[in-house]
Amino acid sequence: MTGQYPSTRLRRTRASGWSRSLHRETVMTPQDLIWPLFVTAGTDVEQPIGSLPGVSRWSVDGIVERAKEAVGLGIPCIALFPNTESDKRSEDGKEALNPDNLMCRAIRAIKDACGEDIGVLTDVALDPYTSHGQDGLLDGAGYVVNDATVEVLVGQAINQAVAGADIIAPSDMMDGRIGAIRNALERDGHANVQIMSYAAKYASAFYGPFRDAVGSGGLLKGDKKSYQMDPANGDEALREVEMDIAEGADSVMVKPGLAYLDVIWRVKERFGVPVFAYQVSGEYALIEIGAREGVGDRDALLLEKLLAFKRAGCSGILTYHAPLAAKLLGA
Ligand code: PBG
Repeated sequence: MTGQYPSTRLRRTRASGWSRSLHRETVMTPQDLIWPLFVTAGTDVEQPIGSLPGVSRWSVDGIVERAKEAVGLGIPCIALFPNTESDKRSEDGKEALNPDNLMCRAIRAIKDACGEDIGVLTDVALDPYTSHGQDGLLDGAGYVVNDATVEVLVGQAINQAVAGADIIAPSDMMDGRIGAIRNALERDGHANVQIMSYAAKYASAFYGPFRDAVGSGGLLKGDKKSYQMDPANGDEALREVEMDIAEGADSVMVKPGLAYLDVIWRVKERFGVPVFAYQVSGEYALIEIGAREGVGDRDALLLEKLLAFKRAGCSGILTYHAPLAAKLLGA
């Protein structure tokens, strides 16, 4: 119950810094961050990504250095995405099943160097491995088929779990993949490997720079609307989340982030499960480019946006700003 002016003056508690600290409802720390990283072939390679200012692809040795940097900054988890060499991409994306692919080499190298000091979250979807840039297998008409794709995704997930992945994160949006992956993890002795489901992933215009980063952008014809969600739908996101939890997801993700704060809030209110937001590549780039063009102070802009995810109910946020944000938050 809120009182009436003048006995109640809400400005009273805002009048000084100590009081604002005391009354702050939401606190963000480096522990709330997951840092997405792009792996590329070779040794001692750093390739800046033009459409993602300040973000590079790194060869496996560089990825290990980034993982150590994350540990030093207090970031508890990194997310890996591969930039597969073009001669290893194929119609069926079978490089995803190679135990010695870029992802598996990176997972093993990080786990060798950092052990339990950091969690490794790995992407499950076929787009970094297919010659057509879609997340699954195509039928003759170019439609992404569901059940046959799920079978490959299960193999991909097990491949990553064997290499040492801590959290399997399917970003493909096929129906039924969480249950199939959970069963296979149980069957093969990986009962403690988590699944963070990209449960509510929208067919968004904000993924462009990411597709450059993994090299699928130029290959992709058409769109992903037959599997990723319609940005107009909120109720449907709750159904996606409900099914993924029932199938064995440990946590769920909403993606992109800022334009979907209502979805994050509804998921948290309804299910009370750990919810994560992915502040995607286009969102990151807009902050960087906006700040450069004088819209506002970059550090203040990015911290305000990240805080919004926490206020909406997130347990954590995947963001390319993770190392900078961790430094600003006083790691
Ligand atoms: C695809 C995938 C995408 C992202 C993560 N996994 C792009 C897409 O669906 O085309 C986007 C992440 C970002 O934009 O930062 N499996």
